[in-house]
Amino acid sequence: NYYAILMAGGVGSRFWPTSKAANPKQFQDILGVGETLFQATFRRLSRLIPAENIYVLTNKDYVDIIKDQVPTIHMNQIVAEPEMRNTAPSILLGALKIQKTNKDARILVAPCDHWIKDETAFIETVEKGFEHVGEEDRLITIGIKPTSPNTGYGYIKYKKEDSGAFKKVEQFTEKPGKSQAEEFIKAGNYAWNAGIFIWKASFIIESFKSHLKEMHYLFDKGKESWNTKDEVEFLNANYGLAANISIDYGIMEKSEHVVMIPASFDWNDLGTWSSVQHELPADDAGNTVINSRLVAENSSGNIISTTSKKIVVMKDLSDYIIVDDEDVLLIIPKADEQEIKQLRAKVMKDF
Ligand code: GDD
Ligand code: MG
Repeated sequence: NYYAILMAGGVGSRFWPTSKAANPKQFQDILGVGETLFQATFRRLSRLIPAENIYVLTNKDYVDIIKDQVPTIHMNQIVAEPEMRNTAPSILLGALKIQKTNKDARILVAPCDHWIKDETAFIETVEKGFEHVGEEDRLITIGIKPTSPNTGYGYIKYKKEDSGAFKKVEQFTEKPGKSQAEEFIKAGNYAWNAGIFIWKASFIIESFKSHLKEMHYLFDKGKESWNTKDEVEFLNANYGLAANISIDYGIMEKSEHVVMIPASFDWNDLGTWSSVQHELPADDAGNTVINSRLVAENSSGNIISTTSKKIVVMKDLSDYIIVDDEDVLLIIPKADEQEIKQLRAKVMKDF
């Protein structure tokens, strides 16, 4: 009864310009380890979940990349979204399709842009979660011990007194502002949301019925078509009508049935340049250089990536992101990296 929904449809906009719509970061070997993030995630999940039960939810434009990167995936495991509507619609769609195949299905929802060091500990955590949701109607999220007031994450306020593996979630706040994030960190009873969820197919569908009624109603009309040749036609006509919302805002912030398992493994969301820098080697001054050579004086903590193999020369510059791509040269302080998303949108609009 173990299934997975692998979320592989984002464009990785905070990792721009290296991550682009035509080739998002999840399909790149960002860490230079010999496999892409997507390949690593698929391999990791198939240690516990039968490979044929792993559904890949993605944009229609990435179907070929996926087949290319994991050739053993069967076409019916790849669900192509005709438009980008964020994670809530794709998770609902995946759950409905899976439930039609197996009404007792338990589902792991996993993003494919994560780095996880101890895979065995990860698998054990997921297994514990699968057992728990088999017993109680709960939405499980995996919580990470926070190390900074990072505004790119969801924050989970949990009941510290709860002993045992599961902590009741009192409040879920997706991407708070800086000052709120700082308060959360000070308070001590908050964890970062890893974006990895475990639930029964039937219960997450129930939760959509409670909190995203219209989306549920819209997709319920397609039930005859799931897993048949009519599915594509239904999705082409209806998918774009779904609200553009993430599972975090749409369900996790609203449900009262959320529990957290604290992660026992090292985790890194490779969402931004500095999170990637964290996993890569640096020189003595803490500069990380990808695909180029650096000659630097009095400069530290920078991350530099070029496609041109130019020698980069700098003096008196610290904690910057410098990415020299074919069409774009990006220069931005690391402290402002969350803004890359907006800058990218501005470039898309102006050119
Ligand atoms: N299929 C599909 N369709 N996948 C999508 C879509 C979509 O429209 N949009 C995003 N994804 C995929 C991304 O590729 C990624 O694997 C995953 O869904 C999560 O999306 P992100 O865009 O990376 O979310 P985030 O990083 O801003 O926030 C989420 O993850 C954080 C931890 O990494 C939230 O769950 C936060 O609460 C969490 O802290
Ligand atoms: Mg992310």
